[in-house]
Amino acid sequence: MKHFHTGFRCLGCNSHFDIGDIYNCPKCGSNLDATYDYEAIKREVDPQQIVADKNRSIWHYAPLLPLIPPDFVMQVPTPLSTIGWSPLYRASNLETGTATRKIWLKDDTRLPSASFKDRASAMVVAYALTKNIETICCASTGNAASALATMCSGMTVKAVIFCPEGTPEGKLAQTLIHGAKVYSVQGSYTQAVHLAQQAAAQFGWHNRNTGRNPYTREGKKTAGFEIAEQLGEGDKKPFRAPDVIVVPVGDGNIVSGIYKGFCDLFALGWIEKMPKFIGVTAHLAPSLYRAWQSGGEVCHEIPSTTIASGISVDVPEDGVAALRAIRDTGGIFVEATDEEMLEAVVTMARETSVFCEPSCAAAYVGLLKARQLGAIRPDDEVVLQMTASGFKDLRSVLRVVPKPILVRSLDQIMF
Ligand SMILES: Cc1ncc(COP(=O)(O)O)c(C=O)c1O
Ligand SMILES: [Zn+2]
Repeated sequence: MKHFHTGFRCLGCNSHFDIGDIYNCPKCGSNLDATYDYEAIKREVDPQQIVADKNRSIWHYAPLLPLIPPDFVMQVPTPLSTIGWSPLYRASNLETGTATRKIWLKDDTRLPSASFKDRASAMVVAYALTKNIETICCASTGNAASALATMCSGMTVKAVIFCPEGTPEGKLAQTLIHGAKVYSVQGSYTQAVHLAQQAAAQFGWHNRNTGRNPYTREGKKTAGFEIAEQLGEGDKKPFRAPDVIVVPVGDGNIVSGIYKGFCDLFALGWIEKMPKFIGVTAHLAPSLYRAWQSGGEVCHEIPSTTIASGISVDVPEDGVAALRAIRDTGGIFVEATDEEMLEAVVTMARETSVFCEPSCAAAYVGLLKARQLGAIRPDDEVVLQMTASGFKDLRSVLRVVPKPILVRSLDQIMF
């Protein structure tokens, strides 16, 4: 296996840096984006060969990724070597309900830690294993934490987590049970981000912080590759883009990651068009939405108060990349209120069988709003990115369901 990663480009000042243990741009502090030798890929890699590869995991796309995992990871199937390849299936009730031609769900609630974040964590853990790194730290609203802890299980690398106070118990329990060291930070996610960064510098840990570590976006772009391959038609057309992809947005790393996956495929000439991206932010976490409305790229820190923990950020860590994903594809941002997300948890469960946490259900709210605004048209083929299971945050889910009915005998049962 060979990869074609050439380095990193700064999203702020456009400087180029070589491959290495690098986070933000040393010149201007902006996030970095991994670069590839597309011409060499075009010459040396046949997309048919990728599709024919029987390894149904993110590593299926090795030539388009920044690293090749060590042999010992790939020899025996483990969660790390089999990560990815979540199902893509039709949601016909949503199609009828919203009068939209085709709606697909990309269901990452089915990944090992039950969230999309496994993709980024797998990439960073694989990187750490290639470099004999012992400890990875990470700030997280909970899902990146449990994903990192899950991916570190049974490996030689340890996870140290910084979660804001109030992180849902399910996410914390998962992170702790896998053996990660967890610090509950007195403050917001943004404060946890800063603390993780300081700890990494102080103790020499590798820092997985979302967006700041450019490998996170590279892990997340694999969902884009998979969607395109799952929509493809095998030999005739290995990859195909939908018209629209709807993504819940907190830091903006998932939306910019899926967008990057499609950018790679488009640059290689393996798809004919780019999909339009719709980003869904929480109304009570307004920083990124306001930057979008202002037409600029500067995101101001505004305290978030949403119950949707996964997208609860005061300031997005990958805001510039997210704004570009939306603007470059002619998409829009829409906001979801807490009530709308909770209602959407119920709709998703009843109409599609997907049990999701409020942040994930935001994708459905985004679909409704983008449809109303005309950003999604009746004839469009739409993918909703499902990002995490409802088991992650049972407290939120229990707010929107009735209590079970206590009974002792048949005469109490009414139908
Ligand atoms: C369930 C869920 N959905 C969506 C997101 C948003 O991803 P990002 O922060 O990369 O925008 C997150 C992030 O934690 C999440 O946990
Ligand atoms: Zn720079």
